[in-house]
Amino acid sequence: MEVFTSVSALRQFLDHLVYQHKTIGLVPTMGALHEGHISLIQASKTDNDITVCSIFVNPAQFNNPEDLLKYPRTLDADSKMLEEAGCDAIFAPSVEEMYPEQPVMKFDFGALERVMEGASRPGHFNGVGIVVSKLFNIVKPNRAYFGQKDLQQVAIVTKLVGDLSFGLELITAPTIREEDGLAMSSRNRRLNEEERHIAPHIFQILESAKNALLKGEPVEKVIRQATAAFAGITAFKLDYFEIVDINTLQPTTSIMPAGENAICVAAFLGPVRLIDNIVF
Ligand code: PAJ
Repeated sequence: MEVFTSVSALRQFLDHLVYQHKTIGLVPTMGALHEGHISLIQASKTDNDITVCSIFVNPAQFNNPEDLLKYPRTLDADSKMLEEAGCDAIFAPSVEEMYPEQPVMKFDFGALERVMEGASRPGHFNGVGIVVSKLFNIVKPNRAYFGQKDLQQVAIVTKLVGDLSFGLELITAPTIREEDGLAMSSRNRRLNEEERHIAPHIFQILESAKNALLKGEPVEKVIRQATAAFAGITAFKLDYFEIVDINTLQPTTSIMPAGENAICVAAFLGPVRLIDNIVF
């Protein structure tokens, strides 16, 4: 496995492979890798000749300076996991390599970013749009892999690829969970023992809400019950709990046929902000 920190060295490596008609899969990450990330590497390995994993904690998408500062950085352990997974190349640039100049361009994803993560984290999806565009232009992948764990990010990147004709295929992979249901996340390692014990309630509350909706309970009642369930566990501070149309990500009051609804949640547990969702 090759590790690159400069755009030019990575390009030299990839140009050679493109010349041999090899297909390239890109898995963008911010590191502190877990099995969720590795599932994306495996999907890319199945579909492509060469898999590149980018590891870059992108300052442009953090609206909270403490979150950026505390974001886990574990490049040695990440490299080991990627090597074992059979990844072909890591692209781990410095902030200066990625941003030789401060971008002045701004992305506005309209209604898609006025809800949930976009509403709670102003500027977040502008930062995601910029870094993902840069990575697409640097790596020029045939396919790029994103996790459903970040459902709104998938919608934003889909719009980005369509609007700017990036000419690559986006693949979305299911959320990988711990045995107790907690969605794997790099931020989970910032939870203390007690918080880690409480965290799986997020998935349990999502599941009960889904079951209630499938039984025909009205959306408003389900939201009230879920909000009360979070309020009943004092360690949680609920940011949002939304039942949305998966195509628009706008809140909905009517449940649609299978696969078109999502329940999305963000909650603080101590200082750590966790997100999760289920699609049904
Ligand atoms: P990061 O949080 O490191 O996630 C990288 C990719 O892994 C994302 O596509 C995310 O949805 C996916 N992922 C995270 N947890 C997962 C899980 N439990 N199961 C399946 N997939 C999971 O998302 C980002 O980084 C950044 O915003 C990035 C796209 C790299 C741009 O900076």
